[in-house]
Amino acid sequence: METNPSFLARHEFLIRRLHSLSGLIPVGAYMCIHLLTNASTLESSATFQRAVYQIHSLGSLLPIVEWVFIFIPILFHGIIGVVIIRGGLPNYGSYKYTSNLRYTLQRASGMIAFVFIMWHVFHMHGWFHFDAWLEGVAKPLGGAQFAPYNAASSLGTAMSGVARPILYGIGVLSCVFHLANGLWTMGITWGVWTSPAAQKRADRVCIALGIALAFVGLSAIGGAVRIDVDAAKTVEGQMYKAKTESGEIDKTQGDHKRSDEGGGHAAAE
Ligand code: HEM
Ligand code: HEM
Repeated sequence: METNPSFLARHEFLIRRLHSLSGLIPVGAYMCIHLLTNASTLESSATFQRAVYQIHSLGSLLPIVEWVFIFIPILFHGIIGVVIIRGGLPNYGSYKYTSNLRYTLQRASGMIAFVFIMWHVFHMHGWFHFDAWLEGVAKPLGGAQFAPYNAASSLGTAMSGVARPILYGIGVLSCVFHLANGLWTMGITWGVWTSPAAQKRADRVCIALGIALAFVGLSAIGGAVRIDVDAAKTVEGQMYKAKTESGEIDKTQGDHKRSDEGGGHAAAE
């Protein structure tokens, strides 16, 4: 292994605990809220747009919050996860309690999650939000498709076709399995369920959570696929107009968060 074994070995206990914790907080918690927010397209495009406005009301703090609470923890958890899978750290003792199949699936779903999240964040968000990157790299490569002030219409457009919903389905189900099974192994890592009876009960709770989350995640994909893009653009235009007229949003800043066809960079409607 090329990684520095002495560093990993010296800090192994702490790294393990941080890796385990980061899977639940903030990464797992973020994913639950994220899937629920995305499923709100099923209610209406306006409901989803309201939720996205709420998130973007953080203004210039948003990139800091994204990097500190979402991107860095996912990168940390994902990179340490890959190091573990490649044998850079010895196996978790917890896995002597579970089946080989679950052990293998936890790792396989982690690898799929890694590829999916990298691609998905590029596809929707673009990873970085400075103009040279967005216009010169991300958009020409099919990334940065999501326009926060045209939330539902840009999401619907980004999810058009057959391949993307299928790839999202595989990604979401892998992430959900990984969280539900990971929660169970976490209970062992932290000594929450130790007796066989408690582990059996935990099994049922984790399976129920996994099924519920899978349902929410697949609903979010279904919701995105069936968005009526033109109707959504009309509602989004009205909501944007109301917000700029009331002064809640500064138009010079807001236009950057709209899709080009949705009115961004264009004259007032
Ligand atoms: C980015 C790609 C990811 C990779 C490569 C990855 C990898 C891993 C690996 C290898 C383990 C097991 C550790 C071991 O076998 O010793 C693990 C555990 C875990 N992961 Fe991930 N993971 C990823 C993403 C996620 C995501 C998105 C979530 C939450 C939604 C998550 C939540 C968890 C949880 C809760 C555990 C259990 C920790 C424990 O047993 O103490 N992971 N991950
Ligand atoms: C049900 C399918 C999903 C849909 C429709 C969806 C939709 C979106 C959208 C529209 C964005 C852009 C948000 C923005 O730029 O303001 C986004 C960002 C992101 N998504 Fe998803 N997502 C899905 C599943 C997932 C899953 C399973 C994960 C795993 C943890 C995930 C992780 C992320 C991350 C880390 C970001 C970047 C965070 C940010 O923009 O601040 N997504 N997603």
